[in-house]
Amino acid sequence: MNKFDVYQKQRAKLVEKNLSKYISKIKNAPRILTDAMDYSLQAGGKRVRPILLMATAEAFGKKAQDVLPAACAVEMLHTYSLIHDDLPCMDDDDMRRGKPSNHKVYGEATALLAGDALQSLAFETMLSDEAVKAVGADKAARAAGALARAIGAYGMVGGQIIDLAYENKSADEEIIREMHRKKTGALIRAACEIGCIIGGADESQIKAAQDYAESIGLAFQIVDDILDVTSDEKTLGKPIGSDADNSKSTFVTLYGVKKCVELVNELTDRAVNSLNVFSGDTSSLKELAYSLAKRKN
Ligand code: IPE
Ligand code: IPE
Ligand code: MG
Ligand code: MG
Ligand code: MG
Repeated sequence: MNKFDVYQKQRAKLVEKNLSKYISKIKNAPRILTDAMDYSLQAGGKRVRPILLMATAEAFGKKAQDVLPAACAVEMLHTYSLIHDDLPCMDDDDMRRGKPSNHKVYGEATALLAGDALQSLAFETMLSDEAVKAVGADKAARAAGALARAIGAYGMVGGQIIDLAYENKSADEEIIREMHRKKTGALIRAACEIGCIIGGADESQIKAAQDYAESIGLAFQIVDDILDVTSDEKTLGKPIGSDADNSKSTFVTLYGVKKCVELVNELTDRAVNSLNVFSGDTSSLKELAYSLAKRKN
């Protein structure tokens, strides 16, 4: 294992341990609901967004531990989006993170509500007395605002609506870019932005981090669309061919796999170059960009 693999593994473990802690702290909630929330949180997953948030804050000299509540909040929101994304009324996928999807285990209504409850828990977690004290009220409020903007009508949920609107209907590149920017890019950008806010980045550093996140965010969804065509269910942990089954419009349907691989490499180089204005240690962010371009799941 190289240095970055060790880093990634260690940070993922930290996130998982704390996700469990936050679930176990929930009192007076129906057990079936907390079980369903915990099931998807602990089902695995690469933990890309919390690692990105921590790596950004660390580039500004913060400790991973200091940004853990925000990092876990981002993973809770991402997990909620996956639970809903798999529902029969959305992509109708039966496997996620190598296990039966939430609704296959708990039923549609509980899966829907587990997603809703994870959304609340995310904001509760990053705005707890303890978390606010650790980063300061001003930064905690700005971070929560950034996250709320990223997941709503003009962010992730808006992107999911565009995704559904273009099933069985062809979309041009501009529409697919907008869909990706919103459904996947927005949360990735927010993770980076929160790392900047809590890390105390200045305007030019925030701009550079945004450029970096913009590029890896688009590359991330293009890789997801490539893997839907080229991978297998065991490696991916979710069904392949889901996009074709739902007649989705993706970069792959527009340009084919080969061109998409080139595009991912270009975007990754662009992301890494964006970091040149940072004076801190950006090696984890750079390695993260390369690892996401090469990922197999
Ligand atoms: C899958 O995200 C959904 C997309 C936004 C493309 P990930 O590939 O990060 O899924 P996990 O968290 O590792 O399961
Ligand atoms: C997922 O896009 C985007 C969100 C969950 C917000 P996909 O539908 O392509 O993700 P997978 O392939 O099911 O993970
Ligand atoms: Mg989808
Ligand atoms: Mg899906
Ligand atoms: Mg996909």
